[in-house]
Amino acid sequence: MTDKELRTLTWDEAVTLTSPHPYVLASCADAAGRPNAIGLGWWTICSWEPPMVVISLGEPRYSRECIDAGQEFVLCFLGEEHAKGAWICGTKSGRKGDKLAGAGLTTIPSLKVKAPTVAQSVVALECAVRQRVPAGDHILYVGEVLSMRGIPGGAKTLFSLHYRKLIAIGPDGNASLSVPFK
Ligand SMILES: Cc1cc2nc3c(=O)[nH]c(=O)nc-3n(C[C@H](O)[C@H](O)[C@H](O)COP(=O)(O)O)c2cc1C
Repeated sequence: MTDKELRTLTWDEAVTLTSPHPYVLASCADAAGRPNAIGLGWWTICSWEPPMVVISLGEPRYSRECIDAGQEFVLCFLGEEHAKGAWICGTKSGRKGDKLAGAGLTTIPSLKVKAPTVAQSVVALECAVRQRVPAGDHILYVGEVLSMRGIPGGAKTLFSLHYRKLIAIGPDGNASLSVPFK
């Protein structure tokens, strides 16, 4: 077998080889209104009309509990200057403290949902949960996008290489491959 032939992969290798995946924060609030945000590589657009997205949350995630309680989330895309905070949201839990403060991030009110928007976002998609679908060891949340805000102008947003590293790519295709996380 040569290195040009298909060979059987582990799932870990397949996820690595299908990277990068756009990396986004899903902001949410717990039952008491306390804000939190989770870093996600597993999400996608899934409907044009109405606009809908799907996110995949591990059952143990604190954010999964928040989204089950509030039935809302905001997909918040950050630029490369907030890579460190975005990485913290993907590696620390908000269950025991204010993760957003630790990540150097703040929130502003959303327009259509009670879940907050991360103030440093360059794009923010406010979503209401329409379906909840268990899928293996994760749960899919299909969200209808009720409000879309953004800052047009070409900021590089974050992408993940598996769970291991962030890079940043702009809409013009220019990339920063040395974002220092991880
Ligand atoms: C690059 C990257 C991608 C991630 N993607 C997901 C994902 O799609 N779904 C998920 O449930 N967790 C994902 N995680 C893990 C969560 O962000 C992490 O467990 C987080 O600490 C959960 O926070 P919470 O307990 O405050 O909800 C990812 C982490 C990283 C670093």
